[in-house]
Amino acid sequence: MSASDSLSNPIGVYDSGIGGLSVLRALQDLLPGEDWVYFGDQARVPYGNRSLEEIRQLADGVTQFFLNRKVKAMVIACNTASAAALKYLRGRYPELPIIGMEPAVKPAAEQTRSGHVGVLATPSTFQGDLYASVVERFAQDVAIHQATCPGLVAQIENGHLKTPKTLRILREAIEPMLAEGVDTLVMGCTHFPFVIPAITQISAGRARVIDPAPAIARQVRRVLEKNDQLSPRTSAGQTTYFTSGDALRMQRQIQQLLGIQTPARALRWHAEALEVE
Ligand code: DGL
Repeated sequence: MSASDSLSNPIGVYDSGIGGLSVLRALQDLLPGEDWVYFGDQARVPYGNRSLEEIRQLADGVTQFFLNRKVKAMVIACNTASAAALKYLRGRYPELPIIGMEPAVKPAAEQTRSGHVGVLATPSTFQGDLYASVVERFAQDVAIHQATCPGLVAQIENGHLKTPKTLRILREAIEPMLAEGVDTLVMGCTHFPFVIPAITQISAGRARVIDPAPAIARQVRRVLEKNDQLSPRTSAGQTTYFTSGDALRMQRQIQQLLGIQTPARALRWHAEALEVE
């Protein structure tokens, strides 16, 4: 497919679950004329404790599903899947522009006054080379504090954005950081922006929070511009939502997190391929 054939084709957005919706809303705001295909791998969420090899295989199946839907670009709206599979997928699908996430250590290192930055992300993200390279390149002059927030992704998937358990998980992660002087917190997992109100309550003005979604949206626009792939459409684009989990549950989650009512469709994993139910 040449670039000009694909201008009005959709862009695939992928996460292990509903975390990528925090990126999707920034994408929809910045690029309102584009069509989007969102996929949340809710049959396999959370990815955070899976091996990088297993995540790479899942990400490959998702990419093939997107290619069958003729996407013109793909956004891996998941730090964990980016850590495991971004480099691999770019090598395997050189024709497809793929934009991934990396923890926003660079802006955090620029903005911190205390020299202490906290990063909240999954264990797999911390294990990947992408994170190591970001820290190596941008965090030479600051102290990095890491927390994996066990159980938090599941809390967010279950819609428990400010329950006592969610607040306890966050407190256990953030309070030791604040005690050591952290004044900047990086959301290194795309699920976590949905608990920013809870984080703000706990940090009570002691730390700023960095949600990378707007910067990722700008990066997607730059890539589309560079490839002459921006949709020429002036009317609003469409988004189609898919889950490997329960479609009605995803519909309710979209309503809770994005405030919109829209259908979602179920897909099933058959061996390593995703098929419409
Ligand atoms: N939303 C994810 C991320 O950005 C993954 C969470 C998970 O599945 O563990 O890392």
